[in-house]
Amino acid sequence: MASVLNIGERLEAIVDLCPTTKIIADIGCDHGYVTAELILEEKADMVIATEKSQDCLNKAILLADSINVTPFVSFRQGDGFEPITKYDKINCAVIAGMGGIEIIKILENRPKKLYNFVLQPMRDAPMLRQYLVNNGFEFVVDKLIKEGDKFYDVMRVTKGHSQLVDLEIYFGKDNFKENYEVFYEYLTARQKKLMDLKASVGELRQQLEQELTYINKAIALFEEIASEN
Ligand SMILES: C[S@@+](CC[C@H](N)C(=O)[O-])C[C@H]1O[C@@H](n2cnc3c(N)ncnc32)[C@H](O)[C@@H]1O
Repeated sequence: MASVLNIGERLEAIVDLCPTTKIIADIGCDHGYVTAELILEEKADMVIATEKSQDCLNKAILLADSINVTPFVSFRQGDGFEPITKYDKINCAVIAGMGGIEIIKILENRPKKLYNFVLQPMRDAPMLRQYLVNNGFEFVVDKLIKEGDKFYDVMRVTKGHSQLVDLEIYFGKDNFKENYEVFYEYLTARQKKLMDLKASVGELRQQLEQELTYINKAIALFEEIASEN
């Protein structure tokens, strides 16, 4: 759905994946666009917006004030879930726009009973997926979205059991079932980038070489499916 604040495809996808519920936490809210949009779209009655940086939190406070959503937001400074107390009955938390390893660190200290998350890692998505599989999460949605010429992983997870094959751990399960156009565009663009890099430097470092191997496997799989249809 188009956002009220015109926040762009990445943030729109994050808001769209949030359930309509009572209390959502926006961990690492920065500018506060997700927080504000959640209230404007009536996705949550209340948002708890947290930030480890007071300067960033101040941006979110100013934004909320400028569009009159302040009464519906609790702003709190602190690391991850540290500013959330046991009295805050959070139904879902957004952790977006940071690295997968940072997201894992934050998830390690989540409220014990909280399993509903919307996650948007900027890197190390395979590591995050493996962590989620190992820690009792199920993927409700896990797909790539495109904004401008950039691609982003967006995920909604809940409590459950997931079995993902290697390629799904690497790229997310929904890209193989639907979302073909965006995914194929991503794969071919990234393949070209890595091949060009390899041609100019001679050898890729191990992590990038492994990524290229998975990209080639995924493209081969697509071509096999296309040739059967
Ligand atoms: C790039 S911004 C992303 C903001 C927004 N969530 C988005 O997706 O556009 C990342 C924000 O997360 C905050 N952050 C990073 N690690 C954090 C942590 N452990 N606890 C709270 N905030 C954190 C940073 O201060 C920064 O403002």
